[in-house]
Amino acid sequence: MTTIINLNDIERKAAEQISHNAHEYYVGGGADEITIAENKRAFQEISLLPRVLRNVSHRSLETSLLGQTFAMPIGIAPTAMQRLAHTDGELATARAAAAMNVPMILSTTSTIALEDVARVKGVSLWFQVYVYKDREATRELAQRAAQNGCKALVLTVDTPYLGKREREIRSGFHLPPNMELPNYRALGTTSVSQGKEESGLARHFTENIDPALTWKDVEWLRTVSGLPVVVKGILRSDDATMAVEHGAAGIIVSNHGGRQVDTALATIRALPAIAEAVENRLDIMLDGGVRRGTDVLKALALGAKAVFLGRPVLWGLGYDGEQGVKRVLEILRDEFDLAMALCGCRNVAEITRDLLYE
Ligand code: GLV
Repeated sequence: MTTIINLNDIERKAAEQISHNAHEYYVGGGADEITIAENKRAFQEISLLPRVLRNVSHRSLETSLLGQTFAMPIGIAPTAMQRLAHTDGELATARAAAAMNVPMILSTTSTIALEDVARVKGVSLWFQVYVYKDREATRELAQRAAQNGCKALVLTVDTPYLGKREREIRSGFHLPPNMELPNYRALGTTSVSQGKEESGLARHFTENIDPALTWKDVEWLRTVSGLPVVVKGILRSDDATMAVEHGAAGIIVSNHGGRQVDTALATIRALPAIAEAVENRLDIMLDGGVRRGTDVLKALALGAKAVFLGRPVLWGLGYDGEQGVKRVLEILRDEFDLAMALCGCRNVAEITRDLLYE
């Protein structure tokens, strides 16, 4: 009898299989991890008002994002160092994304080089950017993303410094010696060694990532790469408006999976005001706490075009590599499809706010 029915089952399986070092890094968040819990709880606290008798025998989950068509409104969020979860790391994730026709956002902090992941057939790769203090190296990285067929840059804006991640400090987080961060090669620093009183990763960030980033850099990245820029890490409607004004093609409503400032607002609670301010002037996406098909439906009802999955993909990788990531995507797709049917929706355009009890 199968015991893998939902994403929580996959998380449990993965926790048995990956190292303590990897588990504590992936599962952890800022300080007391309040935001991690809130991201999930906030979804659970929204009640649905299902619509009935709408002939839901045929349904389409098809979704367009940044002008591309995907199989469903679910994508893969950028998460760092995926070889900690499975030896094939980011390659396995890219193969699963290609097979399922969903976008994958590749992290700057990947354990496989951008060029190698970009070679996976059929993948729609978006590249997540951390702007290095060395702007020439950053320009080169953004241009490498464009030359290798990435469809967008995703600029993370909530991480001028790494959050205070106490699990990382306690577990002495480090990147094992057989793994490196090849996208950092231009900086001459590809390892993350164990820190003493701070996490090794926090130190790596302080040394390499530029906390002087401003809105001007959104335009700079677009100009140097020629790619659309998605701003990831927006929680406020005034910042969403700034993203529109600075030419962003999209935003991701995100609190970095609760890994940056703890007690930051749950993303699904931040979404309505942002959607109202933006008024379809760019594509709104959301990550944080999505574990059920009904969560996807709720995010779309409140104005997102798609949701992105972070930790669940890592758990899929840890559980069974490429197949595990596919399984995660299939489970969520099937739950979302059923939620649509049970709420009287035949396509994503029919997912409207009146489906929520407010
Ligand atoms: C990196 O972005 C992390 O959240 O660890």
